[in-house]
Amino acid sequence: MKVDVLLGLQWGDEGKGKVVDVLTPKYDVITRFQGGPNAGHTLEFDNFKHVLHNIPSGIFHTNKVNIVGNGVVLDPITFKHEIDQLKEKGFDITGNLHISKKAHLILPTHRILDAASEASKGKTKIGSTLKGIGPTYMDKTGRNGMRVGDILHNFEEKYEALKEKHIKLLQMYDFEYDIEKFEEGLKEGIETLKSCILIDSEHEINKYLRNGKSILAEGAQGTLLDIDFGSYPFVTSSNTICAGACTGMGIAPTKIGEVFGIFKAYCTRVGSGPFPTELFDETGDALRKAGNEFGSTTGRPRRCGWVDLVALKYSVMINGVTQLIMTKGDVLSGFETIKVATGYKMNGQVTEEFPFELTDDVEPVYTELPGWKQDLTGVKSEAQFPQELKDYIAYLEKELEVPITIVSVGPDRDQTIVR
Ligand code: GDP
Ligand code: IMO
Ligand code: MG
Repeated sequence: MKVDVLLGLQWGDEGKGKVVDVLTPKYDVITRFQGGPNAGHTLEFDNFKHVLHNIPSGIFHTNKVNIVGNGVVLDPITFKHEIDQLKEKGFDITGNLHISKKAHLILPTHRILDAASEASKGKTKIGSTLKGIGPTYMDKTGRNGMRVGDILHNFEEKYEALKEKHIKLLQMYDFEYDIEKFEEGLKEGIETLKSCILIDSEHEINKYLRNGKSILAEGAQGTLLDIDFGSYPFVTSSNTICAGACTGMGIAPTKIGEVFGIFKAYCTRVGSGPFPTELFDETGDALRKAGNEFGSTTGRPRRCGWVDLVALKYSVMINGVTQLIMTKGDVLSGFETIKVATGYKMNGQVTEEFPFELTDDVEPVYTELPGWKQDLTGVKSEAQFPQELKDYIAYLEKELEVPITIVSVGPDRDQTIVR
């Protein structure tokens, strides 16, 4: 068996959580392989809505195993909060949740360092989610980090030593903080983690594959936030791309099966950084309103714009996407025309390649397609699609050279059309 991977092709929030939940019945195991509580994956079904941060989006289906892989960074405090929230809603999920001992721990001082670093950058800040992601991955690659497995071996001693290091680092910044406040709930969080099934996930995952079990890997963030290929430095600190599934789970590249690339029918971004097709006018406002584009993790308004084929082609290439999933088609209903960026004008020249020099000065070159008026949220099959939507889909498929196999027309599990 192989691992299918579902990942975002834009700047995150493409609807990964919703679609992973839709696809879960086909799989035995759902895994996360990178990122952490910076992710906010929204699921809706049976008038129930929930946002997941650390926990894979397969969790609402009983008898599926959900694994937090080694490439993930886990904050014991927010993790406990997430488990508690689910318990309050009647879901006791710890029995279906396995966590890699090699996943790195986000500590309170990582969150303080994240905040201090952002504050010191002023106007050039990344717009991080302030969850401590950057400093935790820095400690991982700097070989200072603490891992989930460390909670079983002299946790206190290692924690105090790393905390001391961080306190010294914090002296670099002119930043006030209350460490005890950030540490609130840490002990309880560690206890909650201890009560989970802590595993050597690379062994478990490969055993599942040998035993013929099917696995879906759920990406977090999106390709344009990838540490290597995204709009650096305005990116997250992990490999959000397909290759990240190999390093974040311990599977060989030959074990990757389908690669589902998910994108919105338009485009959004939250936080700072270049966004060539961003709209600053009433069309942008209309997209934000119709798409309810506010961050699932931070509540920040998301920046909105047209779909960008230069970026999408790049993402398809980097990830080896085999199937495309288009979400939020319903949000585009009512626009007279829909624009699609096909090139970037830079220094008087047009390029179709996502460039190193991606700045706010890049001017998109647009193609226009006719929009549609029909409300799509109640549509149950492709046959009910307006012709203009069919044409939009056909155009994107032709340009991207990959079939769009799923179209999402609303936030609910049921509002999904498989082609
Ligand atoms: P993720 O981070 O990729 O899982 O996406 P988020 O959950 O952060 O953001 C996607 C938002 O769009 C959530 O509020 C979803 O409930 C919602 N959503 C997902 N698919 C659709 C869709 O096809 N149409 C509409 N209108 N909303 C959708
Ligand atoms: P999901 O999984 C959208 C953005 C932040 C910021 C940058 C770095 O829900 O799609 P970080 O906290 O990772 O250091 O922030 O990345 N960002 C996201 N944007 N969706 C996400 O996750 C994101 N996770 C991080 O806004 O610009
Ligand atoms: Mg999100």
